[in-house]
Amino acid sequence: MKELVIIKLGGSVITRKKQSPPTTDRRNLSRIAKELQQDLRQKLIVLGGGAHGHQAAHAYGYGDPATPLPRLLEGVPRIRHSMSVLALEVEEEFNRHGARVVVVPPFTQAVVRDGKVLDFSLTTIQRIFQAGFSVITHGDVCLDEDGVPSILSGDTLIAYMARNLECRQVLIGTDVDGIYDSNPESNRDAKLIPVVNAANASELLAGAGPSAGTDVTGGMSKKLSEVLEIAHKHTEVIIFNLSVPDRLARLLQGEQVVCTRILGQ
Ligand SMILES: Nc1ncnc2c1ncn2[C@@H]1O[C@H](COP(=O)(O)OP(=O)(O)OP(=O)(O)O)[C@@H](O)[C@H]1O
Ligand SMILES: [Mg+2]
Repeated sequence: MKELVIIKLGGSVITRKKQSPPTTDRRNLSRIAKELQQDLRQKLIVLGGGAHGHQAAHAYGYGDPATPLPRLLEGVPRIRHSMSVLALEVEEEFNRHGARVVVVPPFTQAVVRDGKVLDFSLTTIQRIFQAGFSVITHGDVCLDEDGVPSILSGDTLIAYMARNLECRQVLIGTDVDGIYDSNPESNRDAKLIPVVNAANASELLAGAGPSAGTDVTGGMSKKLSEVLEIAHKHTEVIIFNLSVPDRLARLLQGEQVVCTRILGQ
């Protein structure tokens, strides 16, 4: 297989996370489709839940430990449907721009307990890559061996994929320039941190907060703790602003942009 790049498309950019009912941001999607086409490497694209995932999950009590199992189970079809709608819209738009990409939903591939991946069948994904396609997968509701559902976040999934597939670059796109010393949504003086390393990681984890929109999986603090696990010297891990045109394209071409680089711990 040719070199693989793993890219997270933050739900905060590809959907309108603060609006209900969920809709995709068509302008951003079509721009991102064009930026992706500037790099011929095969791609594993992970979609965040955005409005589609987080709102449906929230409506059925995901994120609240007191929610009874029957209520969680009742929500499974709606969350699945909502995430499938998002994934198919993205697939259609990217293929319209020549991406040769197919959706692989975690629900059918993964065993997940309390949001942690116990197993994810990578043979399917590897076969798809061998045939020359790129893959879209996404945050999803998944079941454990006993049929208990929980939310697999896009950030957890990207960390799992980066650990288990050989890749040189992991690009995590969201709606802010990277990791700040405190939540930029609530603190205008928040400063962007260009590099996260062993020296500042724990301090930053303490300053990272929840998402500004509905987010059942923990916003930036969860994202940071997941990505800290995958950075090592052969893998470049970057959190960047996907809502700013051209940053994705430039990162794919190896250029420097405003972002946070996560260095191996
Ligand atoms: N220290 C911090 N640095 C940067 N952003 C932060 C920090 N603390 C909290 N945030 C919030 O995290 C948000 C990004 O996380 P969020 O989960 O909303 O986006 P996403 O991961 O792109 O979306 P999705 O989870 O749907 O994929 C920012 O918009 C910001 O409000
Ligand atoms: Mg998030």
